[in-house]
Amino acid sequence: MATVIATYNIKGGVGKTSAAVNLAYLAARDGGRTLLWDLDPQAASTYLFRIRPRVRGGSDALIRRRTPVLAQIKATDHDRLDLLPADFSYRHMDLALDSFKHPTRRLAKVLEPLAEDYDTIFLDCPPSISLVSESVFDAADVLLVPIIPATLSSRTFDQLAELAGAAGGPRVFAFFSMVETHKALHRRVMARLRGVHQLTMLGAAIPASEDVEAMGEERDPVGAFAPASSAAMAYEALWWDLRRRLAVPA
Ligand SMILES: Nc1ncnc2c1ncn2[C@@H]1O[C@H](COP(=O)(O)OP(=O)(O)OP(=O)(O)O)[C@@H](O)[C@H]1O
Ligand SMILES: [Mg+2]
Repeated sequence: MATVIATYNIKGGVGKTSAAVNLAYLAARDGGRTLLWDLDPQAASTYLFRIRPRVRGGSDALIRRRTPVLAQIKATDHDRLDLLPADFSYRHMDLALDSFKHPTRRLAKVLEPLAEDYDTIFLDCPPSISLVSESVFDAADVLLVPIIPATLSSRTFDQLAELAGAAGGPRVFAFFSMVETHKALHRRVMARLRGVHQLTMLGAAIPASEDVEAMGEERDPVGAFAPASSAAMAYEALWWDLRRRLAVPA
């Protein structure tokens, strides 16, 4: 059975896509059969893996299961790492979902036939609260939430606590993203949140780094083009941290 990990935050630009792309790369490198589903119509992770953002029949065909999901999957340049691309039609995915009796169960249904083909499935979510994100909460075993330790809204943690408390809901873990340790504010916020949310906050943090930004030019995970960089090592630590937590049952 595949473990489904969604990178999620209601906020935009916090590092969801960067985390999904880098962790998927590491999961595959470690020998796991890995799939990343780019759910964002902006198609950032599809672009980073050099794949055309196109799904035949669009989100409608996928969600209605009119075409086999396996036929829409593309191989990336990396062994064991596949991508289910974004498509511009995903911007209307809410509407497509809404026509079902149990709309929030649909994404899980789309993934169902893949459960034995992959060890880990990453979902890269668009920043919002919508029927799509609610469907992600239903489909995911784990929500992984990047948090910039400066622009924190208390709502983020309230929402996470709600999700984590829901019966049958995903396990929720957060990590600090785009950290600038020379800033006292970042250090203060991190210390406070780690104290209050010990079980949710992962120890590994991703530094603000030009190497992560350079992914847009390189169109590759940092681990592939700058394996000795602090950013690559931070994603490595995050991946191990997450794996360790998941090894302990909830
Ligand atoms: N650790 C980092 N250091 C520096 N820049 C970063 C870091 N992580 C992400 N970025 C940059 O910040 C921007 C947003 O990152 P990313 O796309 O990963 O966030 P996102 O949460 O997926 O955004 P969106 O909500 O738009 O999908 C990108 O230009 C990315 O290169
Ligand atoms: Mg993104």
